[in-house]
Amino acid sequence: MTPTGTEKTRFSFPTVIVLAVILLVVLLTCVPYLVTIALAEGPAERATADASPIFGVTIPQGYKQWELIAPAEEAAPLDELRAVVGNQTAIDAYQAGKLPFPDGTILVKRAWKRKQSPEFASATIPGAATTVQVMVKDSKKYAATGGWGFGRFVNGKPVDEAQHRTCFACHEARAKSRDYVFTRLAP
Ligand code: HEC
Repeated sequence: MTPTGTEKTRFSFPTVIVLAVILLVVLLTCVPYLVTIALAEGPAERATADASPIFGVTIPQGYKQWELIAPAEEAAPLDELRAVVGNQTAIDAYQAGKLPFPDGTILVKRAWKRKQSPEFASATIPGAATTVQVMVKDSKKYAATGGWGFGRFVNGKPVDEAQHRTCFACHEARAKSRDYVFTRLAP
């Protein structure tokens, strides 16, 4: 090997290391930014934006397929049709007559404007959906509100904090003895 060759090897090896280190630093600097950008578009960010204030409750996936607990009607001025549905934990607890509801229970109250059936004069059918209201049982996380987290959504978006402050007060005042839940299983 010629001296030049040896020199070349001696100099190029540290150069490679320096380049590798620079590359590593650049990558490590970029990755957090790339992750931030990816998350901003991703489900994590969306979940925060769609979560209720105070409680961080979101609309549960698949609730439209959940089992019916009971329908309800609301007189004027709201004048709505409603249905309370629950996840399997809720249905099991209802069927066993179990109170308080276990952690993991989710209750959803769906609501619609009343609409006259286009086919049959005396029949009322659901019109436009108005609100989706959610109660999630987590006795530790929501210890201050009877173990329930609340969420009220209009067009998939949570309503303001002021409205979320009213939920527990009314449920506590009228339904405390039933674990803060009004709805009974429909016969
Ligand atoms: C002024 C009283 C009142 C307030 C305030 C209130 N609710 Fe209710 N809620 C009721 C009543 C009464 C029912 C029973 C079903 C019905 O009449 O529609 C109910 C039912 C529910 C149900 C079905 C389970 C159950 O308890 O029967 C959910 C879920 C719910 N409310 C969520 C909420 C959320 C979320 C808020 C706050 C944004 C809220 N509620 C505020 C009175 C209230």
